[in-house]
Amino acid sequence: YHSLRVLGIETSCDDTSAAVVDGDRTIISQACRNQFKYHQPWGGIVPSIAKNHHYENLVPVVAEVMKDIEWNTIAAIATSIKPGLVISLWQGIKFTRQLLEKYTHLSFIPIHHMEAHALTVRLTHDVPFPYMVLLASGGHCILAIVEDIDKFYRLGETQDIAPGEAFDKSARELKLHKHPLVENMVGGAAIEYLAREGYEKRYQLITPKYSAKMRDCSFSFGGMLSQIRRVIEKDGLYSESSNVDEQKLKDFSACIQSSIVRHIETRVHRAILFCDAIQKPQWKRRLVLSGGVASNLYLRQRINDLCTHYGVELFCPPVEFCTDNGVMIAWNGIERYRQNMNVFERMSDTLVPEG
Ligand code: KG4
Ligand code: ZN
Repeated sequence: YHSLRVLGIETSCDDTSAAVVDGDRTIISQACRNQFKYHQPWGGIVPSIAKNHHYENLVPVVAEVMKDIEWNTIAAIATSIKPGLVISLWQGIKFTRQLLEKYTHLSFIPIHHMEAHALTVRLTHDVPFPYMVLLASGGHCILAIVEDIDKFYRLGETQDIAPGEAFDKSARELKLHKHPLVENMVGGAAIEYLAREGYEKRYQLITPKYSAKMRDCSFSFGGMLSQIRRVIEKDGLYSESSNVDEQKLKDFSACIQSSIVRHIETRVHRAILFCDAIQKPQWKRRLVLSGGVASNLYLRQRINDLCTHYGVELFCPPVEFCTDNGVMIAWNGIERYRQNMNVFERMSDTLVPEG
């Protein structure tokens, strides 16, 4: 006898991931192949390259997670169907269909990638509904209330780019990937590292905090990134230029980090006040921080201070579950299966992926 066991498949972006998770919250197996290096020369994800790699990787990745597992112990396959790159998602869906045709006892559970992100915390922590969640990564920036497995309220999302993208592009323009101070570190992680010895007030970036029109919880990082580019240009802050002052680089990194974090902090603050304003104090009892950017310790500290002030309980799931992975998809499958939500015997009734 096995407790409920689900195979999760994720292909929405540049990771081909799969995992098998049990209903008692045990991760039985997981595997992932990332294609980042094939896209990097093009400066972004190239859909046709992603599609081909998913096609090639799905068989070995699923074989790896199923290596020591009998198919008849699996109850269902959960697969991301949206949002994401449609042709990438289709690879996962087509492969799932083949598996369902071969192993006819399996049910199919379509998964919304963002809902899976918002719910992973329940795999690692006992977090009851409702809670507030901030997803901040290279591709996402959303603030939402999770009231139940399939009941979400969006408070705000980014109007342009995600904070991780602002970190990544800043690091790239500073040429930190070529800098000996931050070897083996890229993007936000490199900036966080340099910022530890930086004086943020040496530079100043304007965040969209004071706009009277924006009383909501939407985010915008595009304006900050333009200012960052201007400073780099004006001050010649490319780390490869031999005469660049290391302290300047650290100070500017601190400024970038604190500006991005300050903007996120004001929106979380608004969200907390908003819950009271609409008489939903139960919504702000707990806050979950998720996504690659949530691994930033400075961000965690600032949000933690805010939460302490308002009596909000803060949860930070381990970073490996915050990034795209098969585990969160399988876990969402388990939560949905238990409630019999969109569990299909056949694939034919299910939704078509959307971008
Ligand atoms: O969730 P994630 O691994 O992938 C997706 O974007 O889907 O997030 C990656 C993002 C990158 O933009 C990266 O720069 C950012 O998370 N990141 C950080 C830190 N570590 C990773 N940003 C700020 N501080 C960090 N320590
Ligand atoms: Zn994601």
